Amino acid sequence: PATARFGDDGRMTVGGVDLLEIATRFGTPAYVMDETDVRLRCRDYRAALPGAEIAYAAKAFLCRAMAVWVRSEGLGLDVCSAGELAVARAAGFPAGRIIMHGNAKTPAELRAAVDEGVGRIVIDNLAEINRLAALVPPGTRQRVLVRVIPDIDAGAHAAIRTGGEDHKFGLSITAGAAGEAVSRVLAQPRLELAGLHCHLGSQIGEVEPYERAARVLVEQLARIREAHGVILPELDLGGGHAIAYADGQHGLAPHRLAAVAHAVRERCAGAGLPAPHLVIEPGRAVSGPAGVTLYRVIAVKKGLRRTYVAVDGGMSDNPRPAMYGSRHEIRLVGRATRAGVRDHTVVGHHCETGDTLGEGVPLPADIRPGDVLAVAATGAYNHSMASTYNMTGRPPVVAVSRGRARLVVRREGPEDLMRRDVGL
Ligand code: LLP
Repeated sequence: PATARFGDDGRMTVGGVDLLEIATRFGTPAYVMDETDVRLRCRDYRAALPGAEIAYAAKAFLCRAMAVWVRSEGLGLDVCSAGELAVARAAGFPAGRIIMHGNAKTPAELRAAVDEGVGRIVIDNLAEINRLAALVPPGTRQRVLVRVIPDIDAGAHAAIRTGGEDHKFGLSITAGAAGEAVSRVLAQPRLELAGLHCHLGSQIGEVEPYERAARVLVEQLARIREAHGVILPELDLGGGHAIAYADGQHGLAPHRLAAVAHAVRERCAGAGLPAPHLVIEPGRAVSGPAGVTLYRVIAVKKGLRRTYVAVDGGMSDNPRPAMYGSRHEIRLVGRATRAGVRDHTVVGHHCETGDTLGEGVPLPADIRPGDVLAVAATGAYNHSMASTYNMTGRPPVVAVSRGRARLVVRREGPEDLMRRDVGL
């Protein structure tokens, strides 16, 4: 795991804390988040892009502690629901540094965003322009961005590509919807058009798609100046920067994005436009590598073709392998062994065959019930996409830093799940 350290004795530590100790003290399954690692990743982004605004995409992982960490590192926050907004505000995140997203924001969500005073709301459809304007108190103006479709095909898996004409997000430049949205927003006295937004997709490992997006968006800024005589001050290029989930994969390091900032400035200079305020929205790259999930092995079963290692969690706490075919590195922790390594299939405890955490996972041949496994790079889109399938409570989040572990989100128990069932 990116953030873990290994000892010869099979020990593995994160943030200076022994993972076996965490498994014993907090139980399994458990999400472990390395606060120091999150903070260092925030600092990497800020150092790589001085002057740019880094808005952490809360959908990757959010709880009050996380909101406090990214706020204190000087980041902004991208939220995409009233729920995420509520968590951010409960953690004292300044509303002015929050960007509100969503392709189908409900009227209640728009109202919450306006009432809280979020810095910018991203317009993703024509219907929400008047709906939003009607909610803005007289005498005030809400800053907005218009999300356009750059029509760039990037991203690892079809389910997480978003920047194309055939995706549900954003407004089509080619079909004229983006231009229409810009005209309508400019005509609304209660709205202030701050700039344009786009998001290409996720697990993008190269800078080239972002450079292309920069070209498309700067062209639009130039067109808007021609058509309306206004110079929009902001460009938000979204997130999607890849991380390495397993050996042999590579991520998109923040320093490589300096080339994108450069491309934006060059293009603007070429078009006779001032350099805009640049915003980016990394989610996974901030929280993903900082997380490790711990499981306890419940059973080891030899099948005809595979040996199954069944653990006490699964697709409810990590749906990514089942949804996207993603691979995460999986290791035995806390015990030394001289046994040879064999391929295993690590499965969860849920009632379906797709509930697999890893295929062909090299683990010691003497793996046995009671052992603890650590799954790496689970800090993004695991806790946030967790479900309660099979009435399974969601695991706790344990934060580690400077040799200490503390609970920041408690385990969900049967009482929590039963509370919603109001009976006959
Ligand atoms: N900005 C916007 C508008 C987004 O929609 C997203 C992600 C991000 C930023 C952050 O993207 P990131 O840097 O984390 O890739 N559940 C999927 C990922 C879905 C991403 C949705 N939007 C997964 O587990 O891979």
